[in-house]
Amino acid sequence: MVCKRRMKILTLLTVASLQLIAAPIPQNGKDKHMGVATCSSGVCHGQSVENKGENVMMNEYRTWLQHDEHSGAYKLLLKPASKLMAKKLGLKSAHTAKICLDCHADNVPVEMRGKKFQLSDGIGCEACHGGSERWLSDHKEPGATHKKNIELGLYPSEKPPDRAKLCLSCHLGTAHKFATHTIMGAGHPRLDLELESFTQNQPAHYKVDADYEKRKGSIKSVNMWLTGLVYKANSQMNLLQSKQFTKHSLFPELSFYECHSCHRGMSPTRWPLEKASKSMPAGSVRLEDAPLVVLISVLKSVDQASSQKLFMALKQLHSSSLKSKDAIQKKAKNIQAILNEISTSLITKTLTKSQKQNMRKTLIIDASQNSFRDYSSALQVFYAIETISIDLGDSDKYSKHLDKIFDKISDENKFYPDQFQVIAKLFLKEL
Ligand code: HEC
Ligand code: HEC
Ligand code: HEC
Ligand code: HEC
Repeated sequence: MVCKRRMKILTLLTVASLQLIAAPIPQNGKDKHMGVATCSSGVCHGQSVENKGENVMMNEYRTWLQHDEHSGAYKLLLKPASKLMAKKLGLKSAHTAKICLDCHADNVPVEMRGKKFQLSDGIGCEACHGGSERWLSDHKEPGATHKKNIELGLYPSEKPPDRAKLCLSCHLGTAHKFATHTIMGAGHPRLDLELESFTQNQPAHYKVDADYEKRKGSIKSVNMWLTGLVYKANSQMNLLQSKQFTKHSLFPELSFYECHSCHRGMSPTRWPLEKASKSMPAGSVRLEDAPLVVLISVLKSVDQASSQKLFMALKQLHSSSLKSKDAIQKKAKNIQAILNEISTSLITKTLTKSQKQNMRKTLIIDASQNSFRDYSSALQVFYAIETISIDLGDSDKYSKHLDKIFDKISDENKFYPDQFQVIAKLFLKEL
């Protein structure tokens, strides 16, 4: 996991207007992918240094090639770790297997590939920006506008919901491409995404400056983070209703559950007294619920009623998980209905300073009361607290505490809820 601890502060000024997600993710779009080579020439996006005379940087290809892991995602499939994984999974090879290529390359169907398209380019420009068949020649002409480019198939990656959907498609998975527990058992790392931190961690090949905001609007980092939480929770609920969850008959797909429900030592025991209940007795295998528990906590500061509703719905999801897959799917739908109600306001809401301070404080209070007992929720809490602190401009002031939290979550095999709770209590004293 790359950490955002030392990243620069981004100050974003205006909030973008919301749009419903209409565009399919680039892999499923109806335009041909022409290939990285059609973007990367020295007069286009392959210039060696930033071209200050243009709206966009023009050295995007260099940044992607030299610094962005997405450019090496296909080559990763040729490495020993992937070869071993393929062997364990009984695949001929990782770099020819659809299951691996779907997330490690721009794996569009063969008939959707232009002449210069190369699968070995990995996650190329069009894997995120959409097949350029219709916009490639026009988008550099004087009359081109962002709106027109979008009409011609450019993916709206600047819009938080669309960006969430794009990044989640590989960093969480979809009904069509998914890293199962079998794949993880073969050695694949578990997947994780927090939209704002991952946005910051991807080496930027664009600048959100005045002309960018004029062309595309902009969004505050806290809203990007909240959008990510809502959409990640929503995607998890979607996946619970897909064949990815239900395809096995005896056990459901294990990667939907909190990994350390099963993968941990037996002592010290960890089930907190206050959490044990009839509906979720100690020893139950719990569905992973990190974005939801964080949302429940942050909503307390801005929308107490929805927080309570979501809390009850999540409780029902957990107890249904001891009954049947059908029961789980019903409860997942309920959660989605609530997420739908709150999404617009969370994504567009301009939060006041005191609301953000309250959100952070509530998260830390909840952490000090052991509400985040799983590694995955503690990790989301870290992302949340850091994002809010950077936005509030006091991340330096609280640097010592942020470092301590980071220290506790930097190795999931050494995560102890009790220690996380102690750190939160110390932080709380200084707030
Ligand atoms: C649902 C999408 C998805 C699928 C399917 C998938 N991967 Fe990945 N893989 C990822 C993502 C995303 C990462 C980066 C994880 C991170 O760093 O947060 C990754 C990371 C990896 C890594 C580790 C990289 C590192 O630096 O530690 C290897 C190796 C790998 N994948 C190989 C494979 C192989 C082999 C397959 C097919 C059996 C496969 N992946 C299937 C999305 C996927
Ligand atoms: C993993 C996803 C991803 C990949 C791969 C990617 N980009 Fe981007 N790109 C983004 C995001 C996110 C933004 C910021 C949001 C936006 O403006 O659409 C962006 C923005 C841009 C911009 C807009 C800058 C502006 O000021 O409007 C350009 C130009 C661009 N990318 C070119 C490229 C090129 C060329 C490549 C390939 C060499 C590439 N991108 C690969 C995600 C990606
Ligand atoms: C087509 C699948 C795909 C899409 C779409 C995608 N990623 Fe990735 N991403 C990957 C894979 C695979 C890796 C691991 C590559 C490697 O290790 O070489 C990765 C690695 C990363 C990393 C570095 C590893 C880490 O854990 O910090 C960041 C940051 C990242 N992606 C952010 C994003 C963001 C932000 C978006 C959306 C704008 C996005 N990705 C969209 C597949 C994807
Ligand atoms: C319901 C219990 C359960 C859950 C939840 C679970 N696993 Fe597992 N996991 C197992 C079992 C059982 C095995 C097989 C152990 C063996 O073969 O000895 C296993 C094996 C593995 C292995 C291979 C270990 C080895 O020694 O080779 C990995 C890696 C793994 N799981 C990762 C994960 C991740 C990541 C998650 C969460 C996304 C997860 N597991 C969730 C039960 C679980």
